Amino acid sequence: MSVLATNWTSATLPLPPTDSLRLGVLASGRGTNLQALLDSAAAGDIPATVVAVASNRQDAQALERAHRAGVPADAFARASFSSRTAQEEAIVAFLREHEVDLVVLAGYVPLLGPTILEAYRNRVVNIHPSLLPAFGGTLHAQADALRHGVKVTGCTVHFVTSDVDGGPILLQRTVSVHEDDTEETLAARILAEEHQALPEAIRLIAAGRVLIAGSRTRILPAP
Ligand code: GRF
Repeated sequence: MSVLATNWTSATLPLPPTDSLRLGVLASGRGTNLQALLDSAAAGDIPATVVAVASNRQDAQALERAHRAGVPADAFARASFSSRTAQEEAIVAFLREHEVDLVVLAGYVPLLGPTILEAYRNRVVNIHPSLLPAFGGTLHAQADALRHGVKVTGCTVHFVTSDVDGGPILLQRTVSVHEDDTEETLAARILAEEHQALPEAIRLIAAGRVLIAGSRTRILPAP
């Protein structure tokens, strides 16, 4: 067997199929991806509800967006806890209190430790503004794409593991790089794709169409 062959017989379904997935969103900043999920849920475009929003920053605009949508939201600043473990334990308690099925990292800056990853094994997804594994592990993926002169970039939704930006890829959307792009224009075009990618990932997971095997995922055809 080739070293690249995947043993799909031992593939894992992250969650049983559902028409009412309960999402917990972690965000550190402006929260436009959170907003895309709130809007998609309100429009009935995803079989899911955002039931809890947590941030590591008291001043995150994402918290305001959650409050406006009537979603329970709270800040868990690292400085308020004696350790990262204690901070993550508080976040896990908050997510469990709201019976979260799937955790979505939508611009959440801190790296996750084992506390959250073990509590939500195979049930944490992240969105990153590049075609991973290119330009992973950085907060400047769009600038790095320009600097390297790539012609195509995009965004990636992937499952989160302890390997930063390295977990199994669920889906990617591409964006062409224009010769006159600045970091801002490129980031804006990628962001528009992110706002499509995250709801699409939620639909696939809720439908039970995503299998994880090792470092890969398989997307099952629509029934
Ligand atoms: C997005 O570009 C996302 O890919 C990255 O952080 C940014 C968050 O944007 N992880 P927003 O806070 O959702 O507007």
